[in-house]
Amino acid sequence: MTLTITNIRRPNSETLESITLENGLIKGWNLPAEGEIIDGKGGTLAPALIELHAHLREPGQTEKEDLASGLAAAAAGGYGTVVSMPNTSPVVDDPAIVRSLIEKANRLGFARLRPAAALTRGQTGETLAELTFLQDAGAAMFTDDGRTNEDARVLRLGLEYAGSLGMVVSVHAEDASLRADGVMNEGAVSEALGLPGNPAAAEAARVARDLEIVAGLQAQDRPVRLHVQHLSTARALDLVREAKRRGLPVTCEVCPHHLTLTDEALRSFDSIYKVAPPLRTQADADSLLAGLLDGSVDCIATDHAPHTRAEKERDLLTAPSGIAYIELAFPLMWTRFGATLGLERLLDLMTQAPARVMGWPEPSLEAGAPADLTVFDLHTERTVNPAEFKSKAKFTPWAGESLRGWPMLTVVGGAVAYRREA
Ligand code: DOR
Repeated sequence: MTLTITNIRRPNSETLESITLENGLIKGWNLPAEGEIIDGKGGTLAPALIELHAHLREPGQTEKEDLASGLAAAAAGGYGTVVSMPNTSPVVDDPAIVRSLIEKANRLGFARLRPAAALTRGQTGETLAELTFLQDAGAAMFTDDGRTNEDARVLRLGLEYAGSLGMVVSVHAEDASLRADGVMNEGAVSEALGLPGNPAAAEAARVARDLEIVAGLQAQDRPVRLHVQHLSTARALDLVREAKRRGLPVTCEVCPHHLTLTDEALRSFDSIYKVAPPLRTQADADSLLAGLLDGSVDCIATDHAPHTRAEKERDLLTAPSGIAYIELAFPLMWTRFGATLGLERLLDLMTQAPARVMGWPEPSLEAGAPADLTVFDLHTERTVNPAEFKSKAKFTPWAGESLRGWPMLTVVGGAVAYRREA
């Protein structure tokens, strides 16, 4: 299959060019147009975004999201690859589930799926899952995300075992006993609202513990790879920064919601803002942005976590945690931080950097590279209208906002996975 996209620019170039894709790969630039021809309308072409952290809810929670809606939403957001989280029902701790998810996703033709598998059976944190068989089935990484790894010895074993397989272990770093029943950041706002708080120390303490485990394993020359998910506090990021200085094999991600929202949003008592780890203070958000600039944060992930409207309409004490917005993550980041980060750094944080975290080949625009590509319209403002979302979660904190940077076309394996209608 051959596809030519005309009238596109490479990032930070004014020159209009064309690119031809054949058999899933980039054939070359500015060749005579052949096959299907799509007008890129002056948009900017980049490698498709890579999402290391999304909840697609299959199997078992398809009232919230499913592979079709989640992967279509991802493609509409400019993503070519999605790592799905295993906190489903049942948990993705069985090679047969990993295989069936991949087969089903391949048939859909939206974004590619690289499922994460649970590190422990049933994500209970007690017994390691069958990591080798899960890897053989196609698991991309191991994580008990959604849950925390309370038993440090089991996590250590998991890091050691996964590391010997060359696999990343990714952790939701919150100390459950410190977090307790906190539903929002602990601080002036939680006190004013009379809501149970989740202290910054819950994240920092857990990150410190996990880094010590990694340091110990590294000292024994074990090939460990720890990835810390959705860092939300300045203090925890400082710990990761310091660990990197010491040469520890650790990477971390931050999420656009922790960069753009703070605990002040909870004054609305709207559970749409309830997320784990919680929205923190402006000082924390500023530190996370500084981390993106100084390189101590490796990549951006969304933690797209859809729930039903009825669930998110419950009160803050009982509603589930999670914000869903994979369709607008890039426009949100580009509109809010494009001037600060610059296009190349932002694209790197959402394409090459996630690939580096995973040890995957770095996406590129050169001939011979996989044809996973996105064309962005960096200039036209559009109002966020959740009714148009492909995700089942048709509500978002950014509804009604005017954003730039919308994907116009997403190509996965040389085939169109998303094309904006107008
Ligand atoms: O806010 C969150 N929602 N954080 C998590 O760790 C899990 C996720 C979910 O599964 O809804």
